[in-house]
Amino acid sequence: MSDAFPYLHVSPKGWRLAMGLRPLEESRWLEVDGHRDEQLAQKDQLLRDHRDVVVATRLEGDDASAELLEHVTGFLRGYHPDIPILIDPLDHPIIAASRLAQADLCVMVRDDTWRLQAACVCFPSRWRLVSKIGTTLDEIHSPIPMYGEELSKPTNSFFDRLQPERSFWRLNWTVLDSPELHQPISARQSPKVDFTKWFFRVERQTLRQLPRTKAIVFTIHNYVESLAALIAVNEEFARNLLLALDTAPDPMNEYKGWAGLGDQLRQVLAGAAKDVTSG
Ligand code: HEM
Repeated sequence: MSDAFPYLHVSPKGWRLAMGLRPLEESRWLEVDGHRDEQLAQKDQLLRDHRDVVVATRLEGDDASAELLEHVTGFLRGYHPDIPILIDPLDHPIIAASRLAQADLCVMVRDDTWRLQAACVCFPSRWRLVSKIGTTLDEIHSPIPMYGEELSKPTNSFFDRLQPERSFWRLNWTVLDSPELHQPISARQSPKVDFTKWFFRVERQTLRQLPRTKAIVFTIHNYVESLAALIAVNEEFARNLLLALDTAPDPMNEYKGWAGLGDQLRQVLAGAAKDVTSG
């Protein structure tokens, strides 16, 4: 990746499952970076070859998807006027919107509760869209250890309180044994590969409510970089990551596929320290 890695943050306080929501400035809703062309080309190929994997829509999400498309085009016209806006009128609006943004787009609509009713997710981090469409926030997050006890209530109540005038963003990070953006498989394994083959992956997520349909749009923009490269230039990051891996509860290590990763990182850091002191 040629741009400096933009969201290199792991808490210095150790592992914690947290909402971590921050207010979002309107101008920062959808990010545009040096990977835009390459990521949109990959989206185009996935939409052609694996459409059933990357798109899921239900009638209940159609109106909100059309409103989302209006907002994506309005955003680009307002904040990125150089970007051409090309829309195929035959595309479902969630697909048309997704072709204009690097981020993946999900539309949540409230009936008895909030449900995922339309999505174009080309870059899932080890989950399957088809298993989530039509389901609730709690069902979507059911594989995550401790989500039910710690995040279910605050997340549902956040969705009920969100207003179109105030949007939010948050970060999720993980370490994976592949830099591939499109990982629609649910299986996770402990990375047993060489340290140089690990990757730090951050999802920058935004949440905003659309004023007309009152649907909530969830966007996910991925950033991936070699873990070894990041550690080499940022010692504080390396220390915080090691602490997070050491303090994450076993079920979380299991879910993330991190078992054994902390020990390997410790060895790498000890080796680097030896190199410095002996050199
Ligand atoms: C305030 C809102 C939200 C919070 C606090 C939240 C929190 C989380 C957390 C902590 C994880 C675990 C990820 C990891 O560390 O690997 C996760 C995973 C996930 N989230 Fe959310 N999330 C939110 C909204 C949403 C929405 C609106 C969707 C809609 C598509 C969503 C879809 C997912 C999916 C698909 C996963 C992966 C689940 C799996 O492994 O099967 N999240 N979320």
